[in-house]
Amino acid sequence: MIELSLAGLAPRDALRAVRTRLEEAGVPDAAFDARELYRLAVGRDPRLDTAPLPPDKAAALASFAARRAGREPLQYIAESWDFLDFTLRVGPGVLCPRADTEVVCETAVDLLGKMAGAGPVVLDLCAGTGCLGLGVRRFVPDARVTCWEKSPEALPYLRRNAREALPGAEVAVHEGNVLTGWRDLSPGSVDLIVSNPPYLTGAEMQALMPETAREPAMALDGGADGLVFYRCLTGPWQKVLRPGGWLVMEIGYAQRQAVLDLGARNGWVNSGCRQDYGGSDRVILLQKPGTDPGSPAGDTTNSCNLRPDRV
Ligand SMILES: C[S@@+](CC[C@H](N)C(=O)[O-])C[C@H]1O[C@@H](n2cnc3c(N)ncnc32)[C@H](O)[C@@H]1O
Repeated sequence: MIELSLAGLAPRDALRAVRTRLEEAGVPDAAFDARELYRLAVGRDPRLDTAPLPPDKAAALASFAARRAGREPLQYIAESWDFLDFTLRVGPGVLCPRADTEVVCETAVDLLGKMAGAGPVVLDLCAGTGCLGLGVRRFVPDARVTCWEKSPEALPYLRRNAREALPGAEVAVHEGNVLTGWRDLSPGSVDLIVSNPPYLTGAEMQALMPETAREPAMALDGGADGLVFYRCLTGPWQKVLRPGGWLVMEIGYAQRQAVLDLGARNGWVNSGCRQDYGGSDRVILLQKPGTDPGSPAGDTTNSCNLRPDRV
């Protein structure tokens, strides 16, 4: 692919050229991505910039534009991405954290806030970058969080984020298989499990957007019906939770009933579903039967918003 020639162009002309290249490549929201690539390459906001592009910045922008036109995820080009109010390292081998996932974290934090007792024990299963576990640790500072991940490609990102994303607030990392790992834990030893497991169906795996196809299949593939991990999380993982403990899971927009049915069949109580900020079903929360002072599930409102700037 021939790279754009942008040296000496005024910022607005360079931006227009990048946007056109991205539009021609079918990139969704090309205007946003063009601005982000400009910021990455030039280090300034294109709307506030006036000087013609020097050759080195122009070359960097042209190279980023070519990569994005080849449908490489913007997050991989940026090498880092914001989640809630902190920044995570991302790149090939790990799932890009999504804004939709923030409501999963908000739900977990909300439930932990209503639990009695200090220092709740929290597991983030299928942790990827660690966005959920770190988000919990960020907003529940006394939570004792362990992030579980199996992928050798994702683990270096997780370990780095666990050390660096929240200065002075490490979370633990465990290399383990979520489909078997409950066997290694004592029954009743955990207060809350949060998880965004792989949940795409076989058919969805065959029809991925080009950007998503660049992300690891292991992060996406939930088996033929997309429910493999939900069976395991609602099944044997229940014994790891203490009575009254909570399981909070991200779901795909069409999985609400199937996952609630799994919860009911496995004896969970106080089930609830919350929507993301686009209005799609996104979170299932289930409580292990037993004594617990708080019973906040059942409503479908987002009562905890960790991003005060968002309406
Ligand atoms: C949908 S991604 C979620 C990542 C992160 N929690 C997030 O919300 O961005 C699922 C993650 O599960 C991991 N994974 C897949 N199979 C696993 C298994 N058997 N045990 C542990 N982790 C697994 C993948 O490598 C991937 O990082």
